[in-house]
This record gives sequence, structure tokens and C-alpha cells, in this order.
Amino acid sequence: MKLTVAVPGVTGRLGGPLAELLLEHGHQIRALVRDQASPDVRRLQERGATTVRGDFDDRFSLEEWAKGADVVFIMSTPHHGVGPQAETRHAIAQADAARAAGVGYVVYSSSAGADRPTRVPFMESKRHVEEHLRSLGLLHAFVAPVYCMDNVRFPWNLEPLRAGRVVRGLPPSLALQQVAIMDVAAFCALAIERQDAFAGTRWEIASDVITGEEEARALSRVVGRPVAYVSVEPEQADAMTPFFRFVREEGFAADIERLRRDYPEVGWRAFETWAAGQDWDAMLWVHPGDRHGSGLSKRHRTDLLPPACSPRGGRRWNSVRALLIDLGVNAPAALAGARRAGPPAIAPCCAVLQPTANRR
Ligand SMILES: NC(=O)c1ccc[n+]([C@@H]2O[C@H](COP(=O)([O-])OP(=O)(O)OC[C@H]3O[C@@H](n4cnc5c(N)ncnc54)[C@H](OP(=O)(O)O)[C@@H]3O)[C@@H](O)[C@H]2O)c1
Repeated sequence: MKLTVAVPGVTGRLGGPLAELLLEHGHQIRALVRDQASPDVRRLQERGATTVRGDFDDRFSLEEWAKGADVVFIMSTPHHGVGPQAETRHAIAQADAARAAGVGYVVYSSSAGADRPTRVPFMESKRHVEEHLRSLGLLHAFVAPVYCMDNVRFPWNLEPLRAGRVVRGLPPSLALQQVAIMDVAAFCALAIERQDAFAGTRWEIASDVITGEEEARALSRVVGRPVAYVSVEPEQADAMTPFFRFVREEGFAADIERLRRDYPEVGWRAFETWAAGQDWDAMLWVHPGDRHGSGLSKRHRTDLLPPACSPRGGRRWNSVRALLIDLGVNAPAALAGARRAGPPAIAPCCAVLQPTANRR
């Protein structure tokens, strides 16, 4: 059955792939967006998505967005400085808008562990949303992912990775359940499409379980240079301290075997399979300035870091140049940025990029 699905966060790591998947499956999308002119939003519009301009803090825009939808997907984040309280408020506002618009079924992107008190702020925030949704009497499904593999791509994790390190507040031999965001999106799509099977259910989802040491070895293989695992005390992990304490003391317990057996269509990537699918050259050799850690933000496209100029040979030079061309980057400005970065190693990089700059 073709559905009309209201999806928020379509410019984000989860909402983006989910919207793409639902469009691929032939559904109509009502995408809540803050900036109609952003390239991601334009792309979705070209693919047939309806976009509704709004904000999680604007109740009327949320009701407009939810109007006419068969299913509302609910997500919010504590990221970008808004904090856990805003995350709860934003998700509850989406749930209330779905109810006010007379929508019959919602799927909430929660977190593993959010069904019980954990003292982890970004899990507690989702627990309050789950409680609110249960009290609303709306048909709902909760999709609750464990630690996302894609977190390695966050800027604060890419920086140590450039120096050959994965740093985490967990012992090297402690196994951590993980899941790829693409698999989360695929499972959310199933929950949206199969209301009869999913309404009233809550799923903790994971696709692999891997120790820090194993993760570092897998990254060494796919990145093509040595990566070591560095274990720090949870207290040294800043905002992640309560999370690492939770994992050490309690941990995740998603039933990976069952998920793989019952929902093979999701793909359920192992960590190394996921890692092999990432463009590490682009991420590690160009500044990971955007908030999704993809290395592609406008703000930083012209801001080459010194590692881009490592004398490791042509492959990396070429990938930097190809990336700049793909992005339509203003190459002279990129060169100026590279020169400003300073070290003598920059010179050969500029030399490689210079012909490109002259052609543009
Ligand atoms: N990382 C993990 O290990 C993990 C594990 C379990 C669960 N989770 C959860 O999974 C979810 C994934 O989020 P994500 O990574 O996709 O987030 P994200 O990449 O930061 O994207 C956030 C999206 O929300 C939109 N947005 C933010 N504030 C908004 C507002 N006030 N009004 C309207 N739209 C707004 C953003 O749009 P703009 O482009 O307009 O900013 C963007 O599209 C989060 O709830 C996270 O906590 C993560």
C-alpha cells in the first residue's frame, strides 16, 4: 500500500536516508524543513517530496506538516547545543501535532535503553517521549538503536582518527553493540510500512557487536594505515561520560540474531562492511567541518587541513582534487586556505591543485 508519510529531519543523518528510501518505495513524503532552499531539500523536492516549512518549536507548522499523513515519523536530537530538554519538547510537539491532525500511527526514533532510567541525559530525554507517546493513546512503534557506527564520522572522532587513534571511554576488550544509520533508516521504513505488524512494539536494534580493539583493526584495514584503540576513563569523555558508565555497568542487549533472521531485507551491516562503504579519503583528508562529519560543509570546503598535503602519494592528492571538482569548489580559494594552513608540506598539494584552479 502506498502511504503518505510525514518525515522530519530530512537534512539529517537519519531522516535523509529514510526519506530517500520511502520515496524509492513509492510513498508520498511530507518533509518538515527549516530551509526550503538547501540543496538537500531541493533534491528531495525534485524527487517528488512535498516540503512544509516549519520548526519543532512552531506548533502550527507541525500540524500543517502532519495534516493528511497516514504515518508520522517522529525524531528530534539533543545535538547542536539544544540539549536533552529541547529534544524531549521537540519530539512531544511532533506527537501532539500528529494527534491533532488525526493521524492514526506514528513511528518514534528512540534509543536503546530509553525504556528505563539510565541517568544518560540523551536516553532519559527519549524515555520521557516514549512515556508521553504511550499516554497519548496513538498507535505507535518505537525504533531504538544502539550506538551508531556512523559516530566515528563525528568531527571530534575524526580528529583523533587522523592521528591514528580511536578514543573511547570503554576498556579495549569490552564489546559494544553498534548499528549503521542506514540500517536504522531501513528498519524505520519497515515499521512505517507494516503498521499491522509493528503497532504496539518496541525494537532495540543492532547489527554488530565489536570490541574497541577489533574496531581499530577493522579501521586500519579500510583506512589503509595503522589505527590504535585508546581507552580513557569515562570521566575523561566529557558529555559522553554518563553513556560510557552505562555501557560499562549495563550495556545494550539487542537481539542481533533475531533481527538478522526475521528482517534480512534491512542488510544489517557488520562494522567492517559499513566502514568499507565510507569515503575515508574525503573524510580524513579534507576538514570534517560540517555537523554531520561528512567533510562537505560549505563553510569548510575551502579549508584544507595540512594532512591533505601528506606526501603519501598520488591517490590522496587526486582524491582531494576530485572532491573539490565534484563539489564545484572555488579552487583558488581552496588553495589560499591550504597555504594559510602553513606547513611546508602544503606546497606540493598546492602544486597538484594549481592546474585545476587555473582551468576553472
Ligand atoms: N548517534 C547514536 O549513536 C544514536 C544512537 C541512538 C539514537 N540516536 C538518535 O538518532 C537520532 C538521529 O538524529 P540525526 O543524527 O539524524 O540528527 P542530525 O543529523 O543532527 O539531524 C537533525 C535534523 O533535525 C532537523 N532539525 C533540528 N532542529 C530542528 C527544528 N527546531 N525544527 C525542525 N527541524 C529541526 C535538522 O534540520 P536543519 O537542516 O534545518 O538543521 C536536521 O535535518 C537522534 O535522535 C539521536 O539522538 C543516535
